[in-house]
Amino acid sequence: MNLIEKTVLVTGAAQGLGREIVLQLAARGWRIVVADLNVELGQAVVRECAGAGARAFFVQVDLKTADDPVAMIQSAADHFGRLDVLINCAAYATAEAFCEMTARSWEDTLLVNVRSIALATAAAGRQMIKQGGGGRIINITSPASRMALPNYTAYAASKAAVDSLTRSAAVALASHNIQVNSVAPGMMDTPMQMKTEALFAALEGRTDLEAFLAGRTARIPLGRRTTCREVAETVVWLAAAAPDYITAERLNVSGGLDRD
Ligand SMILES: NC(=O)c1ccc[n+]([C@@H]2O[C@H](COP(=O)([O-])OP(=O)(O)OC[C@H]3O[C@@H](n4cnc5c(N)ncnc54)[C@H](O)[C@@H]3O)[C@@H](O)[C@H]2O)c1
Repeated sequence: MNLIEKTVLVTGAAQGLGREIVLQLAARGWRIVVADLNVELGQAVVRECAGAGARAFFVQVDLKTADDPVAMIQSAADHFGRLDVLINCAAYATAEAFCEMTARSWEDTLLVNVRSIALATAAAGRQMIKQGGGGRIINITSPASRMALPNYTAYAASKAAVDSLTRSAAVALASHNIQVNSVAPGMMDTPMQMKTEALFAALEGRTDLEAFLAGRTARIPLGRRTTCREVAETVVWLAAAAPDYITAERLNVSGGLDRD
């Protein structure tokens, strides 16, 4: 794909991995739609993009709603006239003991992590087909999707659904030369990860958070956590440089935590 003047929409782009993906694409001259619930941080990311010389705008979305996943794709098309890449990065995560699970956390998790990706991907597919075909969609999944995590059941199940969506969408859109792949990041110390790991420690009755975190890091075969930068480089490669023939793939960037 031509690296110049491509348009990308990144959800969850106000902070963490989504922000880093946006900044790497801005440095390459992409036109960017920053989609997030958080107005203040989202607008700050747009200013960072402008500082790097990229054209960017913010669209506030609540991905729990039925309409926003589709409306944000329309906003991108209205503003820039086309959409070349969609990156579904936003997610909701909470930790609960298996026997204490609540309907509310299941609902929030499934709406943000599953339904919104399905609806946004279909809307992006329609837009890309209208443009004559060609495009890429990248879903951020998690090693959790294939693990037994009794204190993280809703999140793990939602990411297993993301893997399923990636496969279905890849086949649905293949004849239009639209590639759909996913990336499974290892542990990155983002606001989401720090919040959920503190909840895991509490659920396991661990009071020494540092020792708890060190134990989790020690389980990673490469012996270290990753960074948003390292994972974003992989996402950017998939968006900008990967061969067209790669589709329906799930790329591990987890230091050997998850194994294919
Ligand atoms: N951090 C990790 O270690 C890790 C590991 C594996 C997978 N992931 C995945 O990476 C992706 C990015 O996670 P992160 O760690 O950067 O998280 P983060 O919490 O730092 O960022 C998530 C962003 O999503 C936005 N968001 C949440 N709910 C939303 C909603 N209803 N509508 C619109 N925006 C909403 C938040 O405002 C936030 O800006 C997620 O899909 C996550 O599941 C993260």
